[in-house]
Amino acid sequence: MEHAAIAADLPKPAAYAELLRHVQALVEGVGDEIAVLATVVCELHHTFAHFHWTGFYRVTARHLLTVGPYQGSHGCLVIPFDKGVCGACARAMATVVVPDVEQFPGHIACSSTTRSEIVVPLIDPDGTLRAVLDVDSNDPDAFDSNDQAGLEMLLSFVAQHLAMTAAPVARP
Ligand code: SME
Repeated sequence: MEHAAIAADLPKPAAYAELLRHVQALVEGVGDEIAVLATVVCELHHTFAHFHWTGFYRVTARHLLTVGPYQGSHGCLVIPFDKGVCGACARAMATVVVPDVEQFPGHIACSSTTRSEIVVPLIDPDGTLRAVLDVDSNDPDAFDSNDQAGLEMLLSFVAQHLAMTAAPVARP
């Protein structure tokens, strides 16, 4: 499905609101987790110039996060809950904003160019942590309260959508 790009000069709140509408239209009727998460990552990564690595780490085992889907250079494949900014977000089940990664004890440097980071939890309606969304920027202090609010609003929709549309596994 083709759609118009979101104008780069839109203020962040309007850009996030429009991006949410794009994602809602794109994933309508699709319950496959990877298809939905990949679409979210693609829309975010190609909309915001300050997003240099954009991706999910999914909860794949007890206290373990596994990368994907993502866009950007290659990310660490697995992150335990007791490591990094992603682990901190998974433990707290709350958004973590890091204005300067060098000031965050235990930050995992997947890329030497990363200067700031935001990690947002994807929490199912039943309260279970499904994944975290990690966004890294090469710009210092790149993420503000508009990014936090926009990403939390988006992931709230994604959690509701996946819970409502998840298809039963059907093998061809
Ligand atoms: N910086 C993250 C690790 C993931 S990569 O940056 C893609 C962290 O500290 O958890």
